[in-house]
Amino acid sequence: MKLIETNSYEELSQQAAWKIISLIKDNPKLNLGLATGSTPTGVYKKLIEDHQENKTTYKEINTFNLDEYIGIPKKDPNSYHYFMCENLFDHIDIPLEQTHIPDGTAKDLEEESKRYESFIQEHGGIDLQILGIGQNGHIGFNEPGTSFYSRTHIINLAESTRKANSRFFESLEDVPSQAITMGIASIMESKEILLLVSGTSKAEALARLINGDVNEQFPASILKNHQNVTIFADKDAIALL
Ligand code: PGA
Repeated sequence: MKLIETNSYEELSQQAAWKIISLIKDNPKLNLGLATGSTPTGVYKKLIEDHQENKTTYKEINTFNLDEYIGIPKKDPNSYHYFMCENLFDHIDIPLEQTHIPDGTAKDLEEESKRYESFIQEHGGIDLQILGIGQNGHIGFNEPGTSFYSRTHIINLAESTRKANSRFFESLEDVPSQAITMGIASIMESKEILLLVSGTSKAEALARLINGDVNEQFPASILKNHQNVTIFADKDAIALL
């Protein structure tokens, strides 16, 4: 893993965005894996600015999101479908039919998991995956204890994850207890991974990732076995290194 230390969240966002833009310029048909949460929003802002100023185009890009809550309709402001439209898709020239997110309202969620997994593979796999990290080391919604061999699946969210994400909801009770997420093996098949880590709340997780062993109790640790991972971290996140 390569670690890029930046002075601020702004710089982290800019540097990660430049990296993504340069890969899109090299391959305008890039399969781009996307993440939700607070961390990537700065990168998405930079991608939008660049699209407006420099006309980088997404007309042939396909995107694949990591996860979606179960039971939240796409039009609900708390769905990751809604989040992605608000924070990125509505502001760039990507055709919406080329944006893919697991359907957390599917009647048969097992079937939806299988469909999403094979759908990614039919498209040739993910070229570049953007990831955040949970304070408990989760990647996507793969909580501690998830098998490193997992494919897209249904997961029970850890209480700490529900609490962390309750800031987006009216109350903790409103936070779904389950999600559908790409598995760890699915994520590891991406050709390249950018991990974004920002803020003091992630400092412990980053230190454990860098200094700890590879262990299913800390899902992000598997990234040490991937040959092309770049971590973009800001000053607060690297405080314990
Ligand atoms: P955050 O979420 O960017 O909102 O901190 C990251 C994650 O939980 O994976």
